[in-house]
Amino acid sequence: MSRLIYILNGPNLNLLGKRQPEIYGRETLADVEAACRAVATRHGLDIRFHQSNREYELIDWIHEARETAAGIVINPAAFTHTSVAILDALNTFDAPVIEVHISNVHKREAFRHHSYVSLRADGVIAGLGTQGYPLAIERLAHLIGPAKA
Ligand code: DQA
Repeated sequence: MSRLIYILNGPNLNLLGKRQPEIYGRETLADVEAACRAVATRHGLDIRFHQSNREYELIDWIHEARETAAGIVINPAAFTHTSVAILDALNTFDAPVIEVHISNVHKREAFRHHSYVSLRADGVIAGLGTQGYPLAIERLAHLIGPAKA
């Protein structure tokens, strides 16, 4: 069984650390990737960590994950609230999906309260800052189970 997980990040998350730090904090996406790699290694998981500002690229990575991955962590960013196409792609993926939001979307504007991706996600983490990513990996590691000796 695959020990590979995909961590996918949507638009504007390349600016993490610089973009509205009062909402998203000062850690960069590279810091998030390092934290994800550390926790994944502890669980014997390999990761592919990607960010794109283009919807189709996220969809292509989800299609790739169908063939190779045991789970997906996704922060679809603004596509959360708009993208039926990302929901449709995730519906073709047969392993656990955890949705992550750095901010507490439910405390923000009404348009952020609805998530298409939540219709597919097995779990949702919101408002725990960038800590949400390693916590999502902990959950995937639990669902995937330990490596066979
Ligand atoms: C976000 C929340 C979204 O509403 C927003 O569009 C983002 C980031 C978050 O991580 O809190 O870009 O997904």
